[in-house]
Amino acid sequence: MAAATSNALDAGYYAATCPDAEAIVSNAMSRLHYNDPTLAPALIRLLFHDCFVRGCDASVLISPTPRYSSERAAIPNHTLRGFPAVDAVKRALEAACPGAVSCADALALMARDAVSLLGGARYGVALGRRDGTQSNPWEVDLPAPFARLDDVLAYFAARGFSAEEAVVLLGGGHTVGGAHCGSFRYRLTQPDGTMDEQVRCEMLDACGAADLPLDTDPATFLDPDTPFAVDNNYYAQLMVNRTLLQVDQEAATHHATAHHVAYYAASNDAFLQRFAEAMEKLSNVGVLEGDAGEVRKVCSRYNT
Ligand code: HEM
Repeated sequence: MAAATSNALDAGYYAATCPDAEAIVSNAMSRLHYNDPTLAPALIRLLFHDCFVRGCDASVLISPTPRYSSERAAIPNHTLRGFPAVDAVKRALEAACPGAVSCADALALMARDAVSLLGGARYGVALGRRDGTQSNPWEVDLPAPFARLDDVLAYFAARGFSAEEAVVLLGGGHTVGGAHCGSFRYRLTQPDGTMDEQVRCEMLDACGAADLPLDTDPATFLDPDTPFAVDNNYYAQLMVNRTLLQVDQEAATHHATAHHVAYYAASNDAFLQRFAEAMEKLSNVGVLEGDAGEVRKVCSRYNT
């Protein structure tokens, strides 16, 4: 996929057609977050999984049907959450301004609000994304948690993101939210020396050694100290081998990323600013504009 970012998006895109769009999303997000603080991390991840596959076109939101599969059926997307929340926000937008606001814009705004609600810096989201009309499971090439960091950095580079931006997005994404044991159990049962022994034993107790189906597999916080805060704590954890995902742990020692990890571990302010910038950039990857695609009525279904 091309590392296209948009020039045509515009902060005032809905000034005439839905002037309250941002407020509608923000109010809904505050309510949703109050009822379920675990939702905000799920929305940040949804944006990443949307934007790095076919661009930020809401293709990740399409539900598979018995006749047509979709990105949600692909393995990296089995653990995505937050789809009903996107549908709820879209219903509120449709009630105020029918047919105006795309699901891709709704998701970009929800992820932005999620970052602020978790204590991250607020960034601007230019608007005007259109919704895609294709969503194919075989196009989902998101890296696995056991991917080598060299491959992950190449994957980010192909979408226009530097090693530093990759470290910022990984650290910001994984300083909140949770992971199922299935994402890291192999590191508990076949230790390779890159996980703190105390963490390994605690996680083995929590997870058990045997693989479990996703619906009964326990989940645990990625950053157990401050699981609901976008902060730089995850980098500090990386530097003492206390992280669950192998891809993150490798960033602490890899020649292209170790100095970034150390830098952001030392400065929360620098991290918050760079994370906001990187999220804004992520929100603009490969967007559809103008007459391309459509504005879906329901985010989980194409219009026709
Ligand atoms: C290529 C690198 C990445 C890999 C391999 C990866 C992998 C994972 C895995 C395995 C989980 C746990 C899923 C589960 O077991 O339920 C997870 C969770 C998460 N990831 Fe990533 N991730 C990557 C990049 C990112 C990026 C760039 C972001 C955002 C900017 C992000 C945001 C999140 C969030 C917020 C969660 C928690 C979700 C929740 O609580 O439901 N990840 N990631």
